[in-house]
Amino acid sequence: MDTMMALRAHTRGGPEQLVYEQAPRPEPAEGEALIAVHATGITLTELDWDESWTTSDGKDRTPVIPAHEPSGTVVAVGAGVSDLAIGDEVYGLVDFDRDGAAAEFTTVPASALAAKPRTVSHAEAAALPLAALTAWQALVDHAGLRAGETVLVHGAAGGVGVYATQLAAALGARVIGTGRPRHAEIVRQLGADRFIDLTAEQFDEVLSGVDVVLDAVGGDALRRSFAVLKPGGRLISVAATPDQALAEAHQVRAAYFIVRPDRTELTRLAEMVDSGRLRPVVGRTVPLAEGRSAYVGTGKPSKPGKIVLIVRPDGTDQA
Ligand SMILES: NC(=O)c1ccc[n+]([C@@H]2O[C@H](COP(=O)([O-])OP(=O)(O)OC[C@H]3O[C@@H](n4cnc5c(N)ncnc54)[C@H](OP(=O)(O)O)[C@@H]3O)[C@@H](O)[C@H]2O)c1
Repeated sequence: MDTMMALRAHTRGGPEQLVYEQAPRPEPAEGEALIAVHATGITLTELDWDESWTTSDGKDRTPVIPAHEPSGTVVAVGAGVSDLAIGDEVYGLVDFDRDGAAAEFTTVPASALAAKPRTVSHAEAAALPLAALTAWQALVDHAGLRAGETVLVHGAAGGVGVYATQLAAALGARVIGTGRPRHAEIVRQLGADRFIDLTAEQFDEVLSGVDVVLDAVGGDALRRSFAVLKPGGRLISVAATPDQALAEAHQVRAAYFIVRPDRTELTRLAEMVDSGRLRPVVGRTVPLAEGRSAYVGTGKPSKPGKIVLIVRPDGTDQA
């Protein structure tokens, strides 16, 4: 059996369960591609989720491989895959109820992969899939954002926020971002017209007539957001389910959704990167062999941007 190096957990738990070890190299099933992984984004909270440990029908699937946002090179395709070829550079989002990409190789449904943006590294491409798709789906698919509208992004320097801020601006909206004082500069650089420092201003005391709120914070920020929307406005939260009674009282539409892999949208995002309208934001890179440390907080305020595991440093992509 062919093997590969991977970061795996044999028992459900936190980062302490992750070991860097030899594992079987997967084979692509029908409709899948086998990717030589160059880099993959991680989600700090993924080890807390049931779906990270079970199959889609709820069965234990340990040992598991985390990190579901690969960027890499196609090295084989399964039956029925005609739109990807060996050597294609791709990036994508893998569902969390199957093995991820903290490994030398991973298999991914072809429909969850798109051509990687050409103008950035694999590490930068791997910082995009989950957070940028979430921001795109919130603004475009769920809020139906139109040019000229005003968008309030809660947590504008966070994982989702850095892309929501850029995408809303690129789509022609006026963008207001909220965050902590240390976030002011990056949020403005990403295209926000206004920054609200949550320690200095109450956003619901200074804003009104907003068309769209994208909430990546939840709690109080979500609850207080209804009051700043104009009637007919849209509140999309990716952090918590909005209260429908409040939505009705304020005559707005409010929704929560879970991001899904989508090749067409990944292609659109890659085009925006290549045309300079969207910038991947990498907070920190960590070699795969030290992957466990990526899931452990540093104890310091985190730098905006994704934590990315480096599997094959650029230029050494031999399968
Ligand atoms: N539904 C989905 O499909 C989906 C997809 C992706 C993410 N999510 C969820 O969305 C949420 C955000 O994810 P993320 O990756 O963007 O998290 P994140 O990187 O932690 O971003 C949240 C940001 O908001 C800031 N913040 C905290 N409290 C705030 C407040 N009251 N007002 C304004 N900003 C505040 C945080 O600053 P500090 O770091 O300094 O606290 C951080 O910069 C999480 O709950 C995540 O699980 C859901």
